[in-house]
Amino acid sequence: MADLSVTYMGMQLSNPIIVSSSSLTNTVEKIKRCEDSGAGAVVLKSLFEEQIEAQTAEIEDDSWPYPHPEAFDYVRQMGMRLGQDEYLKLIRDAKKAVKIPVIASLNCITPKWWNSYAAEIAAAGADAIELNIAILPTDPEHTAEEIERTYVRIVEGIRRKVDLPIAAKIGPYFTSLPQITRELRRSGVSALVLFNRFYQLDIDIEKMVLTPGYHLSSPDEIYVPLRWVAILSTQVGCELAASTGIHDAKAAIKQLLAGAQVVQICSNLYQKGMGRIKVILEEVSGWMDKHGYGKIEEFRGKMSMEVSEKPEYYERLQYIKVFVGLE
Ligand SMILES: Cc1cc2nc3c(=O)[nH]c(=O)nc-3n(C[C@H](O)[C@H](O)[C@H](O)COP(=O)(O)O)c2cc1C
Repeated sequence: MADLSVTYMGMQLSNPIIVSSSSLTNTVEKIKRCEDSGAGAVVLKSLFEEQIEAQTAEIEDDSWPYPHPEAFDYVRQMGMRLGQDEYLKLIRDAKKAVKIPVIASLNCITPKWWNSYAAEIAAAGADAIELNIAILPTDPEHTAEEIERTYVRIVEGIRRKVDLPIAAKIGPYFTSLPQITRELRRSGVSALVLFNRFYQLDIDIEKMVLTPGYHLSSPDEIYVPLRWVAILSTQVGCELAASTGIHDAKAAIKQLLAGAQVVQICSNLYQKGMGRIKVILEEVSGWMDKHGYGKIEEFRGKMSMEVSEKPEYYERLQYIKVFVGLE
């Protein structure tokens, strides 16, 4: 039987499968279920900045008769406090209930609000913090540089407040992923989660209203993260957690071969249940036995861009007949 244990951001994990931040991890009972199902670690459901903002807007309407910017800041901080308190309790209770690492998750769109709370998250016992940073640029006046600077400032602010390992979970929509990921690593992340799958938007053409798109991934969504894990794993200088489109053991093995330290799984567990974790682990172990690998380190990164026999293939964005072999 192969040894599936790994380290991730300095934490010891019995295996590389992490249950992604989602409603699969938003109560102590569900977190316990993740552990019982064999997960190596969990990322808690994110505490969302907008969620807190909405909560605070209600407080402001009801109990703050003279809104002005300073008052709003004050009230908003109080609102964050409330949401934060519940979240701290979830961390504390989860840490009492399970032995696997518990990673807190903050959804950040500005650098301002989270810095002073990060230390409390550490004090509550979280093993690490994952920053789910998702800024949607809709204003043409904002340059790419300004927006990327915000990502870096969010990490720097929280880095200054805690010694805990920090991961940044980002999306794939950057002009230069090698550059922004290097900046994030320099700003203090121990790992990058590649990639977040953003909320999808759709249009109902009969009612002419906006509707949510399908919220779960499909297995063919693995290819974008797979390419970038393979390109970045040897050059970015921090660990990578692969996320999006991992629905079976083959996908998990591919990401480890590309150089991922761990894999995060979400949609497949929603669709097929938590029992999938054990099935995937058994299949990974069977594949390792078949290929003569005793430990994950023995094959991790074997297919990364730098190590691969055909690194130039990773650099191709367009089809080339000769290598795709199709006409
Ligand atoms: C119902 C649902 C809720 C989610 N909530 C969060 C969240 O709070 N924070 C976060 O970082 N990602 C959240 N995600 C994204 C997942 O963590 C994951 O990155 C995404 O689903 C892609 O992985 P998958 O292909 O394994 O599903 C959520 C996904 C789903 C389906």
